[in-house]
Amino acid sequence: MINLWDIIGSIKINLNIISNNYKNMSKLIITNEKIVIPKGANLNNQIDKEKLKEQFFNQDYENLKLLELIEPINYLQEEVTLLYPGCGIDIFSPLIYLEKLLPNVKKANLIFVDTMSCLGIIKTIIDNVNITFSEEKNKSITFYWNKLLINLKFKESDIHDLIEQLNYDIYFERAFRIMKEQLPNYEHLVYKQLNNYGILISDSGFKSQELKKIKVPQELSAYKEMIIGTKEK
Ligand SMILES: C[S@@+](CC[C@H](N)C(=O)[O-])C[C@H]1O[C@@H](n2cnc3c(N)ncnc32)[C@H](O)[C@@H]1O
Repeated sequence: MINLWDIIGSIKINLNIISNNYKNMSKLIITNEKIVIPKGANLNNQIDKEKLKEQFFNQDYENLKLLELIEPINYLQEEVTLLYPGCGIDIFSPLIYLEKLLPNVKKANLIFVDTMSCLGIIKTIIDNVNITFSEEKNKSITFYWNKLLINLKFKESDIHDLIEQLNYDIYFERAFRIMKEQLPNYEHLVYKQLNNYGILISDSGFKSQELKKIKVPQELSAYKEMIIGTKEK
């Protein structure tokens, strides 16, 4: 089944336009990239919830409430590394999942990988919701998502060229189903590089990988293939 997300795939330039027909309602998400001056990471930033909602399609935003139905995972490490290939400009989904599912994590090192350069728009988007950040030029940005300290590195690359050089505690994937079909042995490599007791969160695939799965609402995936599981071997 071809999904709306697959079709709109890579429409992501300085002017980012995505149309949405969920529930017969039309919604247009437009983000104009702007230059954002780093003002420093600030634990006291108050996220603008209305602006945050505007970054999601209506149904996707509603569905995030389903995360409340999942029992939080008692993850032993307070600092984690999370890999998100084919991230596009989707900064908020992994942050919301981390916050809801792993409440004892205090610091997350995010590795975002995409063939397109998206960091400029990501900085614009987080600024739009009232989050300030510090920046190590061409390296990473650091900010707080509520109480969670985030360090984000963006790599403009084909994930297939990078995956075997990376190790991570959490693998996050969303709307990447069609793209990964073109990448030989991709899910096996993702699983191999995931640290032991690491967590895999994906809205498609990973049926052949040995994971201790937790029960999750399938509506969290546009493909109804949501999977959250731990690698325990
Ligand atoms: C359908 S979009 C999904 C974006 C994001 N995950 C989301 O949910 O909004 C797929 C993204 O994958 C990126 N992409 C496609 N093939 C890729 C590859 N081999 N390595 C890394 N990124 C890739 C595209 O540039 C695009 O940003």
